[in-house]
Amino acid sequence: MEVAWSSRYDTGIRVIDEQHQELFGLLEQLRKVMREGDSGPALERLLAELVSCSEKHFATEEAYMARFSYPDLAQHVSEHAAMLTNLHELLRKFRENHQVMALMVPTFMEGWLKHHISDGDFGFVTFLKARNLT
Ligand SMILES: [Fe+2]
Ligand SMILES: [Fe+2]
Repeated sequence: MEVAWSSRYDTGIRVIDEQHQELFGLLEQLRKVMREGDSGPALERLLAELVSCSEKHFATEEAYMARFSYPDLAQHVSEHAAMLTNLHELLRKFRENHQVMALMVPTFMEGWLKHHISDGDFGFVTFLKARNLT
């Protein structure tokens, strides 16, 4: 199954949409590398990139939300922080040779991302639109 970007996840905020697409793209690359049976450096590089891109994306969103005094910022930050904890843990386990852990990353993160964008990120978009800020 493809980890496909869909216009359904379009927030209308360009920098956020580009970062979401980058994350979906990384998940697709991870699936491809796993399908090809590569469990070595390519996989580790992609997992590490997924962690750093997630950190960058979450920081971008949080700064954006803070700039507009988004009232649900604290809740949103805690969702991001929980996901980052999970990702760091997965990367750590992968590096400790629990490579099987890596196999769940694309499905786990794809599910989280789709739900989080639809539910969490769109809450912010709705907030901006209600105040004519987009
Ligand atoms: Fe997001
Ligand atoms: Fe978010």
